Amino acid sequence: MVKFKKLAVSTAALGVALGLSFAAQAEMMIGFSQIGSESGWRTSETASIKAEAEKRGIDLKFSDAQQKQENQIKAVRSFIAQGVDGILLAPVVETGWDQVLKEAKDAGIPVVLVDRGVDASEDLYLTKVASDFVVEGALAAAWLAAETNAVCDVVELQGTVGSSAANDRKAGFESVVSNFPGINIIRSQSGDFTRSGGKEVMESFLKAENGGKDICAVYAHNDDMALGAVQAIKEAGLKPGTDILIVSIDAVPDIFKAMADGDTNATIELNPHLGGPSFDAIKAAKAGQEVPKWIKANGPLFLPDTAAEEYKMRSK
Ligand code: AHR
Repeated sequence: MVKFKKLAVSTAALGVALGLSFAAQAEMMIGFSQIGSESGWRTSETASIKAEAEKRGIDLKFSDAQQKQENQIKAVRSFIAQGVDGILLAPVVETGWDQVLKEAKDAGIPVVLVDRGVDASEDLYLTKVASDFVVEGALAAAWLAAETNAVCDVVELQGTVGSSAANDRKAGFESVVSNFPGINIIRSQSGDFTRSGGKEVMESFLKAENGGKDICAVYAHNDDMALGAVQAIKEAGLKPGTDILIVSIDAVPDIFKAMADGDTNATIELNPHLGGPSFDAIKAAKAGQEVPKWIKANGPLFLPDTAAEEYKMRSK
């Protein structure tokens, strides 16, 4: 009897303890300031981070900035006012974050940069969970050099002006092509990471370059712009993937379909599943553990030979 009573008490104590720990987990409130939904990759990233939060019982406060930095700054301030346990920030551009990051730091709220980086002191944020965009650009250029025997006039579709993704992908590409005098970047302009932007800019490149006959390849900073370029090239009466080679970045399902159809030639994967490592970093910081300043998430280059299979797997 006494034993039973003891057991009942300890079970109750355990229940309270477990209850508390579940409550504590459910009470983990994280703010997520997302850029918008400019690309297929961005939409997958948002869905993946939301799903990961739900799986972990995290109360995720989501804010879509519609591509505007001022909206992101407002969102971060609102998260601070709500007393969140941590903030995920996907910064649309690199500069202009110092003040708001300092406000989060002063409030004791760790900020994780997801996907893109900022031009600010590393002390102002906990960590960055992102791919190395310079490496992605370099990989695209290395593929192009090998494919064209290092002789090619390239047009470049840049991402959003001022974003780390556009700046670094450009720098990485240029660092490799500078070794090959036969590869020239003859035109370079932003298509803002959108399909319509990629199409519009590609149309102007085609017009300016003898209807496209003087263009050997397109380097697009993301798949959506590459898919826009495919449309423009077809409408100009040329065959994308053959008359004009196309290399891009992201590895979204649609680009595998395009590669399988022979319309594009290579893509570099950008991992959209950044929620897990971001939440882990906040948890680790809360537990007083050391967190590295950059948690890298680089992906491989895919070619048409596996495209049909990849499309099947990724579009389920
Ligand atoms: O910051 C990553 C880039 O942003 C992705 O490559 C692009 O698709 C997105 O919108």
